[in-house]
Amino acid sequence: MKLIVGNQKTTLNRDAVLKFIDEVNLNGVNDVVICPSYPYIEIYNSKSKFVVGAQNVSEKGNGATTGEVSAEQLNSFNVKYCIVGHSERRKDQKENGEMLYNKIVNLLEFNIKPIFCVGEVLEEKENGVTKDVIGKQILEVFDKLDVNKLNDIIIAYEPVWAIGTGLTPTNDEIEDTTHYIKDLVNDKYNVNISVLYGGSVSKKNVDELNQIDIVDGYLIGGASTKADEFNYIMESNV
Ligand code: 13P
Repeated sequence: MKLIVGNQKTTLNRDAVLKFIDEVNLNGVNDVVICPSYPYIEIYNSKSKFVVGAQNVSEKGNGATTGEVSAEQLNSFNVKYCIVGHSERRKDQKENGEMLYNKIVNLLEFNIKPIFCVGEVLEEKENGVTKDVIGKQILEVFDKLDVNKLNDIIIAYEPVWAIGTGLTPTNDEIEDTTHYIKDLVNDKYNVNISVLYGGSVSKKNVDELNQIDIVDGYLIGGASTKADEFNYIMESNV
């Protein structure tokens, strides 16, 4: 069974969150993760059976960091996973390897599993440098981390050009890139890392994507905000 993680971004207002919780059916699947905006974490904790994740964490600890949310605070709300280095934040908030390293260290200290996002933009894909880009994104962070902690990290391969576009790589391409990521981490650090695929996963393509055995799960954006889409994805995974 694949790990399903929903990244709801800032799509839903409070009423829409409550409606989604009402309509979603986990079909008895355990450990389905939802990453809502911070204000809704407590709603998901109290009203749903989702395991709760966050979309971001502060680079720093508790203290004088107005507007941030620390790993310690997330932990106190029973948050178990946290997305790190989503391409939207790499681009808009200029998140770099050092910032992502700091975030991961903080999360691991509070037993929250980082879901570390990597992926190429369209131009990089067209230039045939996907693996170079992803390899650099991984190594610039992993090289500094304690090797004994790498087991607690999940990598999400999200081609930037596939996010929100309805486009996806072919199954062969996803399989090849996932192999590359697993082999890289295994060869360099002797760790078997889990890899999720993200980018336009929907009820239209999930049955086909499910055929890629090497992929350990999905990081789902838009389809994790619509109960009928999410229900189908869960059913197809049972
Ligand atoms: P979509 O599923 O909407 O393409 O978004 C993917 C994503 O960014 C998940 O983090």
